[in-house]
Amino acid sequence: EKGGYEHFMLKEIFEQPRSIGDCLRGRLNAQEGHLHLGGIHDYINKIKNADRILIIACGTSWHAGLVAEYIFEEFCRIPVEVEYASEFRYRNPVVGEKDVVIAISQSGETADTLAAIELAKSKGATILGVCNVVGSSIPRATHAGSYTHAGPEIGVASTKAFTAQISVLTMMALMIANKKGTLKESVYRNLLIELEAVPDKVAKCLDLNAQIELIAEKYKDASNCLYLGRGYNFPVALEGALKLKEISYIHAEGYPAAEMKHGPIALIDENMPVVFIATKDGSYEKIVSNIQEVKARKGQVIAVVTEGDTEIAAMADHIIEVPAAHEALMPLISVIPLQLLSYHIAVMRGCNVDQPRNLAKSVTVE
Ligand code: F6R
Repeated sequence: EKGGYEHFMLKEIFEQPRSIGDCLRGRLNAQEGHLHLGGIHDYINKIKNADRILIIACGTSWHAGLVAEYIFEEFCRIPVEVEYASEFRYRNPVVGEKDVVIAISQSGETADTLAAIELAKSKGATILGVCNVVGSSIPRATHAGSYTHAGPEIGVASTKAFTAQISVLTMMALMIANKKGTLKESVYRNLLIELEAVPDKVAKCLDLNAQIELIAEKYKDASNCLYLGRGYNFPVALEGALKLKEISYIHAEGYPAAEMKHGPIALIDENMPVVFIATKDGSYEKIVSNIQEVKARKGQVIAVVTEGDTEIAAMADHIIEVPAAHEALMPLISVIPLQLLSYHIAVMRGCNVDQPRNLAKSVTVE
């Protein structure tokens, strides 16, 4: 059942070219300029005219929501707020009929997310779901939604569900933007082509597995690790840190790289590994300075960079080169090496990667 892989997590990481492909299949055809999510068809105008989009989720799904915030705001010019379901539901939130709520959940059973949906629904909001498990509680509680079609995710650490969630949310944003006219036709068409190319680029990242295993060997005994990214790669830093801490039990934190100087920089010495997600995008030059700041304090830098990068290659202790892509789609690609890095470190530390201590696949307790 593990398809020849040692763990479900590794199998699921390696499934991603296919799971993202399955998620896009029948919905996207870049050649024909076709993009359609049947599940939200009747709600397109409602979303397009929304005053605000509220994204509600927990854990890794919340990180997918953060990526979606950047994408929706950029493409659709609709204000977005991303909420932890547990905080939203307990604080008497301001929400009403003009709000569209997108609830993201792999399992479709997370108790806090379900309760947050019921609360927003009782106040008149329109609720859309982005879930993986067909027929689970959250899709049944929403007005409409789109499944991620990633297939069953057995490993407790979410991997292929995360990339499928971002894929669906990106398609939603592109559909709305096209309807709203907030993206130039040429930009829209190019993004469709870029999205269709993601599964092949993810496959190229998987080819880096052996190289990443060697890097893991060097850092497996670390007791702390910092993950830094900016822009679209900031949520990827959070996700990289979560993956490491939950399966290897190494304390890890993700931060927006620019926030480093407001606190975390104090942690940096020769024993501190810092993972930068530093692909070529609008914030590249800024993150190069952040890398210099870490190197000046003798931190160990592992950088995920765009293929052919020479500037960061000259400063970092290790680089992991991933294929170039439109910056809005980069999280789908840059997260792959981080999943592999956590996996190998956890295996080398003798951890139970598929069932980490104290964690459950569906969190049905509040
Ligand atoms: C992390 C992880 C959890 C879940 C969270 C939400 O790898 O799996 O953080 O993402 O418990 O679960 P769902 O998406 O099922 O609502």
